[in-house]
Amino acid sequence: MNTNLSKAQVSIDPNTVPQKILFTGAAMPSVGIGTFGSDRFSAEEIAKAVKGAITVGYRHIDCASIYKNEKEIGVALKEAIDSGIKREDLWITSKVWNDMHDDVRTSCLQSIEDLQVGYLDLYLVHWPYPNFHAPGCDVDSRSPDAKPYIHESFMKTWRQMEKLVEEGLVKHIGTSNMTIPKLKLLLNDAKIKPACNEMELHPHFQQQEFFYFCIKNNIQPIGFCPIGSPTRPERDMTENDTVDIKDPVVLKIAKRLGVHPAVVCVKWAVQRGQIPIPFSIHENEYKSNLECSTKDLLTAEEMVALSKIDKNCRLIKGQVFLWKDNQSWEDLWDLDGNIKQ
Ligand SMILES: NC(=O)c1ccc[n+]([C@@H]2O[C@H](COP(=O)([O-])OP(=O)(O)OC[C@H]3O[C@@H](n4cnc5c(N)ncnc54)[C@H](OP(=O)(O)O)[C@@H]3O)[C@@H](O)[C@H]2O)c1
Repeated sequence: MNTNLSKAQVSIDPNTVPQKILFTGAAMPSVGIGTFGSDRFSAEEIAKAVKGAITVGYRHIDCASIYKNEKEIGVALKEAIDSGIKREDLWITSKVWNDMHDDVRTSCLQSIEDLQVGYLDLYLVHWPYPNFHAPGCDVDSRSPDAKPYIHESFMKTWRQMEKLVEEGLVKHIGTSNMTIPKLKLLLNDAKIKPACNEMELHPHFQQQEFFYFCIKNNIQPIGFCPIGSPTRPERDMTENDTVDIKDPVVLKIAKRLGVHPAVVCVKWAVQRGQIPIPFSIHENEYKSNLECSTKDLLTAEEMVALSKIDKNCRLIKGQVFLWKDNQSWEDLWDLDGNIKQ
C-alpha cells in the first residue's frame, strides 16, 4: 500500500464537503466514515479503509472502543498525520462502552492512546445503560446485572465526561442511543451540554420528533446505519425489518442520478441535516458516499417524497439491554414519553 497521502492523491477536496457548526463554534464534516466492522471485517481491513478514506478526502472518523480496532486505526491515523494531514483538520469521535461508565477517564485515555491523536474531537456515551454484554452475543442473551436507566447513575458518568472537556482531553461530549425523555433530564442537569447525539437514522427510520428535538436544542444529530445497514449480522435482523435500498422512491432517485441506492440514503441524510457515518471498506463505495455530499442536490420534490417513506423501522433494537423477564425491546425507547423502570 502506498503510504504517502500527498495532495495529488486527494480525490475529493475536504474543503468542498459541507460542515455543521456546533454550539461551540467548531466545524464538523457533514459525512464521516463508520468503523464498526461487525463480524465481517478484521481490524486491519477497517484500518486500511480508514487510511484509504482519508486519502480520498474524509476528515471525520467515527470510532468506539467496543469496535476493538482503535489500535489498528491509530496506526492509519498516525501515518496520515505524519504524511502532512494536520491533526486539527481531522474530526475523531470515540465512545465509552457500557462497562466503563464508572471509569470514563481510563477508557478515554486508552482510546486517545490507541488512536494516537492526542485528544478527541467528540466523546460519546455509547449507550445510556451500564450493563456489560460480550461483543457479538446473541440478542436473546441477558446480563444478570442489567438495570433500567437510572438518571442519577447516568449523571455520575456525565460528570466524568464533563471533566474530560475541562481537562482538555476531549473537545466535545455527547450521547448515543438516547431518547427525548432521557435527553430532557440530561439537558436539565448538565453543566456541559451534549454537542451531538448519535442515533439510528435512515429513510425507513427518520425519528422526526427526536431529530427536531435535537436540532431545537442545538444538539447535532449524527446518523448511524444511514444506509439501513443492509449487511448487518443476522442476529440483528427481524422478520418485519424493511430495506431502505430497495424502496421504490430511493430506487427512482438512484436511477435519475446514476448512483447506487445507498448513495441516495447518504445524500438524503446530509441534505436533511444529520451527519451520516456510512461504513464501507470498499473504496468505490466510501468514495461515492463522501463525493455525493459535494454535488447533485436532491430536488425539493425528492426530499418530500423521501420524507414520506418512513417505516418506523428500528434496526438496532438493543434487546441485550433489557433488565426484566417478559420485556420487549420497545421498553428501551420510552415510546410513551416515560422512562421505563
Ligand atoms: N452509536 C451506535 O450505537 C452505533 C450503532 C451502529 C452503528 N454505528 C456506527 O455507524 C456506522 C454505520 O452503520 P452500519 O455499518 O451498521 O450501516 P450502514 O452504514 O447503513 O451500512 C453499511 C453497509 O452498506 C453498504 N454500503 C455502504 N456504502 C455503499 C455504497 N456506496 N454502495 C453500496 N453499498 C454500500 C456496505 O455493504 P458491503 O460491505 O456489503 O459493501 C456496508 O457494509 C458504523 O460503522 C458505526 O461506526 C454506531
